[in-house]
Amino acid sequence: MKINIAIDGPSAAGKSTIAKSLAKQLNYIHLDTGAMYRSTAYKAVCSQISLEDENALVEMLKNTDITLTPEGKVFLDGEDVSSSIRTDQISLAASSVSRHPLVRSELVARQQKMAEKKGFIMDGRDIGTVVLKDAEVKIFMTASAEARAKRRYEQDKKLGLPTTDVETIAKEIAQRDYQDTHRAASPLVKAEDAVEIDTSDMTIEEVVNAILALCEPYLKEEHA
Ligand code: DC
Repeated sequence: MKINIAIDGPSAAGKSTIAKSLAKQLNYIHLDTGAMYRSTAYKAVCSQISLEDENALVEMLKNTDITLTPEGKVFLDGEDVSSSIRTDQISLAASSVSRHPLVRSELVARQQKMAEKKGFIMDGRDIGTVVLKDAEVKIFMTASAEARAKRRYEQDKKLGLPTTDVETIAKEIAQRDYQDTHRAASPLVKAEDAVEIDTSDMTIEEVVNAILALCEPYLKEEHA
């Protein structure tokens, strides 16, 4: 039997990078739930739907297909939006649409349906507290504001996105952190049974190994 792994934490703490690497090693499926909030925000912006209009956003979602492929690509109504949803504008817009309880319940239901079976590594803000409450391994991943801004800067460069300076990125991250931790609906908070990992001074390999060590007792059982 496989297990589920929940990874939550603030923006640019390294959640997706680590989840991808873990998925490869364990042969599990990685679901980047942030991509679903980003796709929702992207469609709303393109369709000139107000990010404040909860009912209009939910109506829009009724006719919206968001597909996450095992290779990490994101398709919105059939269009590859993998890069377009990673801009600073869409990052903030995603944080805004994610405040609405009805938007959240629609996307959470889809996430739970996708991960009905075990063998998933899901990353986001409410995975350990709401989406996969019964995940066997829960991680709360953090990193210093400085480390996170630098990482996002490098990632933007790699993706070929228009690069802003590290200070501007740091401001955008701080604004999103504030919004994501202060909203009424499922704010970012460490689940009681989550293990906190500060990745500021850790390599990707070190973080992956730390999580694999937490999974080991379950994986042993799996192979027993
Ligand atoms: O993980 P990310 O940076 O791609 O997420 C974009 C925004 O979506 C983030 O600022 C908050 C929101 N989000 C959320 O509220 N719940 C999730 N499970 C994932 C993301």
